[in-house]
Amino acid sequence: MHCAVVLLASRAAFAAPLRACHAMASNLLHVLPPQGLLRPLAVPERLLLGPGPSNVPPRILAAGGRQLLGHMHPEVLQVMDDIKVGIQYAFQTQNQLTLAISGTGHCAMEAALLNLVEHGDTVLVAVNGIWGQRAADIARRLGASVHELLKPPGEYFPPWDIEEGLVRHKPSVLFITHGESSTGVLQPLEGLGKLCHRHGCLLLVDAVASLGGAPIFMDQQEIDILYSGSQKVLNAPPGSAPISFSERAREKILRRKTKPPSFYLDMRWLANYWGCDGEPRRYHHTAPINSFFSLREGLAMLAELGLENSWEHHRVNCAQLCQGLRDLGLELFVKEEKARLPTITTVRVPEGYDWKEITAFLMDNHAIEIAGGLGPSVGKVLRIGLMGCNSTSRNVDRVLHALRDALRCCRRSRL
Ligand SMILES: *Cc1c(COP(=O)(O)O)cnc(C)c1O
Ligand SMILES: *[C@@H]1O[C@H](CO)[C@@H](O)[C@H](O)[C@H]1NC(C)=O
Repeated sequence: MHCAVVLLASRAAFAAPLRACHAMASNLLHVLPPQGLLRPLAVPERLLLGPGPSNVPPRILAAGGRQLLGHMHPEVLQVMDDIKVGIQYAFQTQNQLTLAISGTGHCAMEAALLNLVEHGDTVLVAVNGIWGQRAADIARRLGASVHELLKPPGEYFPPWDIEEGLVRHKPSVLFITHGESSTGVLQPLEGLGKLCHRHGCLLLVDAVASLGGAPIFMDQQEIDILYSGSQKVLNAPPGSAPISFSERAREKILRRKTKPPSFYLDMRWLANYWGCDGEPRRYHHTAPINSFFSLREGLAMLAELGLENSWEHHRVNCAQLCQGLRDLGLELFVKEEKARLPTITTVRVPEGYDWKEITAFLMDNHAIEIAGGLGPSVGKVLRIGLMGCNSTSRNVDRVLHALRDALRCCRRSRL
């Protein structure tokens, strides 16, 4: 007590020119109002052409800025129902258990794994970039016996490799990434669902970077668990993540011997909260209501444009970007054209350049964000994202123009 008084007194002596009206209160406080917070929020204009987030168009921004409603008010429940059917459209599924997780893409990844996997289950993870590595990490934390199928960054998994893994390890779940955003690879999904089912395994697919940008047909491709995020092609702020479970996956969850280790992400609770189980809705958590408003608008814009048009935009603009990069004398990281992710293009860092100087140059001189590599592609590539409303021919021209400028200005003098 004595100590505290001395401290207070000495701090007051040092507290310089506080305005009189603040002096009383400040004498009681050990921590002063931070200077940074007394300045206005700074948000410069930037063209976000990295691997995410993408720019948010005015309509979605406005939706996120609307006044709050109670999270169980009928209008909000209606928004949740709209989101549900919007995800069913985007995923091309009729699964009842379809909803948005209150969190980012990682949260959906954890929700998928921790609801499906119990201690001692065998999980097979296809690793050709950072997302497989992370899925394997999460599955290990859950006490699963994890086996990895490996491919060098830049390559995808042909079905025979998958089948060999299924035969050898007999997993109950296979994890694979549709759009490997760390390497720019698009994984073909045709036939994988059937293959998994023939071997008594569920197919779990990460489509955070590919949803809306590359064809995916959850029901026809017999994918059991599919998830995505809000911040990439859907052009909504990060914070809500679409996810859907097939009937097979739902049954596996219902057969669990133990509760999932997270209350927040327990799919039985979430199914009820989202009106997927036919029971009256009960309070589980307070939904991030404004994130849901934004996600609804992102899904609505996708529905208005049409999935096929969205896929076609991304394909055409990515092709224009790839051609432009080659014309600059740059080398695309993913060799096979059909294996290139239409939303995120990876290009090798050219000889004699430092990738950090190039990304910094684009930011400082052109207010454009592009990114370096991630995980296994660090130092090797630049990643250029063209997602949703920012996948335009004009943006391709802008980023190519900026890169040409960077190649001129950032060359290292070699000894
Ligand atoms: C971006 C991304 C994620 C993670 O999403 P966050 O919103 O950053 O949590 C997961 N998987 C893939 C393939 C991604 O591109
Ligand atoms: C990128 O997206 C932002 C937000 O919608 C938009 O303001 C901007 O015009 C887009 N860029 C272009 C040139 O398409």
